This record gives sequence, C-alpha cells and structure tokens, in this order.
Amino acid sequence: MTAFPTARPRRLRRTDRLRRMVAETRLAPEMLVLPLFVVPGEGVERPIPSMPGHRQLSVDRVVPVAKQAEAAGVGGVILFGIPASKDETGSAAWDPSGPVPTAIRAIRASAPDLVVWADVCLCEYTSHGHCGVVVGDTVDNDATLPLLAKAAVAYADAGADVIAPSDMMDGRVGAIREALDAAGHHELAVCSYSAKYASAYYGPFRDAAESAPAFGDRRTHQMDPANVREAVVEVNLDLAEGADMVMVKPAGPYLDVVAAVRRSVDVPVAAYQVSGEYSMIEAAAANGWVDGDRVMMESLLGIVRAGADVVLTYFAVRAAHILEES
Ligand code: PBG
Ligand code: ZN
Repeated sequence: MTAFPTARPRRLRRTDRLRRMVAETRLAPEMLVLPLFVVPGEGVERPIPSMPGHRQLSVDRVVPVAKQAEAAGVGGVILFGIPASKDETGSAAWDPSGPVPTAIRAIRASAPDLVVWADVCLCEYTSHGHCGVVVGDTVDNDATLPLLAKAAVAYADAGADVIAPSDMMDGRVGAIREALDAAGHHELAVCSYSAKYASAYYGPFRDAAESAPAFGDRRTHQMDPANVREAVVEVNLDLAEGADMVMVKPAGPYLDVVAAVRRSVDVPVAAYQVSGEYSMIEAAAANGWVDGDRVMMESLLGIVRAGADVVLTYFAVRAAHILEES
C-alpha cells in the first residue's frame, strides 16, 4: 500500500458523478417497505401524534396511500390492524372480514405491483395487549402457535405476498409454514422477525397500534438488547423451520446485529427502522436541529451498508421520492 503524497483518497471525491460512480452502497425505492395501520370503518384518517405524517386509516383511506407508495416505486407495504373489539385470545386477528384481510384484498386490486406483507402478532388483538395467550403472568408459547397460524392463513387467503410473524414465540415459523402449506399456500414467503429485541424504540408504534401491554413487558419473548450471538441462533432456528427471509428489529441501534446476520446467512435480510427511530428524527427535524431529509437518507444508507437488503421504514415514500429525483 502506498502512502501520502502518492495516495490521495480525495481524488475519488472530486465531483458528484465520480463519488456516485464509486459508491459502495446504493439505495433503491424497491428495497423499502412502508408500514400502514388499518382500522375498521370508513373515512377514518386519525393522525398518530407521536408519528407525524402517519395516520390510522380505514380501508378506503389506506388504498390511496398504497397507490401513492406504488407510484413512488416503493417495494411494498406491511399491514398492521386495529380490530373493532379485542378479547383474551385475539380472535379478531383471523377474522377474514377484519381490517387487515380487507385491506389486503383492496390493495391487491388497486395497487397490484406492491408486495403486500402481513405482520402476524396478537398484541393488537388481545384485550391485555400481549403477543399471545396469557397463562398466569406469562405468554404461553405453545398455546399461542395455532392462533398465529390461523392469522397467517387468514392473511394468505386474502392475498398477502409475505407473512411476517413478529411475536417471537419459539417454533412459530414452523407452525405457520405447516399451516400455510396445509391450506395450499406453498408459494407464499415467510419473513420472520427473527432477531426482534425488547426495545423502548417501539413506544410510538404501541400508540399507533393500540398494543401496549396492560401489565408486564415483552422481555420473556423478545430478545435482550445485550445479545448479538443469540441473534444468529434465532435466525438459524427460523431458517430451519422454513423462513425465506429474516429480519432484525430495530435497525439503527442494532447495525452490528444486521452485519452479523448478513455474514452468517445467504437469504435476504430485512431490517425494521422502527417507530422510535422515525419519531426521533422527525422531532429533531421539526425543531430545526437536524436536516430531516439528509438524516433520513443517511439513516437508511447506514442500515443498507450494514447488510440489509430490505428496509421497513416509515420514511419509505419520502425516501423513494428523493431517490427518484436524484
Ligand atoms: C407487534 C409489533 C411491534 C412492532 C412491530 N410489530 C411492537 C411490539 O413488539 O411491541 C414495532 C414496530 C415499530 O415500533 O415501528 N409485535
Ligand atoms: Zn406482538
């Protein structure tokens, strides 16, 4: 290796075209997935105060947002539902006329190019806000699996392209794969939230999805933020159970996890830039403390540079517009 003055790394940074030519990482709109919150009713557009620019939308209002994402070149949307009523087992999660299956059918029909992801978890649907069946003071793993599988089949029947279990029960990918195959959905992909951490960055989402636990927390099923090797264990278990893609969540504070997962598997790796990551950037930008658009693009670039192939982000449409213009 040569040294200064022969070596001058600035030579490759001289012009915009030159910098772009040698860029090691590129973002594209089709890598991005936009999360949407679907509520029952008609004409509902309820702003989410902690997530400026995002709303809870009824199906008729979610359709134009999906079309806008499709027009911007965004790769897909991931749907979360808030049901009309909640119960102990979260049974509204597999109601074929619930907000998510209805939205899947409507988006399929009106924005056919989008890849439609369905998040599978019970916390938006249970009266206690936990991700599964509560027995005593904990979530019962094995009793929850068939319920998750029923929800997955309901979304598959409605026309989802990707089933994304976010509950972190052990064995859920296998249970869902088996139920999908039994229902004839051999071709539907499963993207497991394999390395999902017990994170404080989900705060705004729990307002948006009305899914905060009524008691306790999610630390007995979501991962300990201290661990990275365990993420590789989780990913490998999910792949053995039939996952087609794996996800790391949150993204920004867990870039080492994204990189470790990227190194250890050959399937596509998704990373979820979660609600708290979005809201913090938005809040700082609203105060004029940072340039919101530039921090947005830099945060997404960092996630992709760490090794993500797909990024779930509340910035999807805005970022896609900037990418199309540049
Ligand atoms: C449901 C779920 C959560 C998120 C995605 N799916 C919240 C949680 O586990 O409490 C978080 C997404 C975000 O914060 O943007 N299990
Ligand atoms: Zn959950």
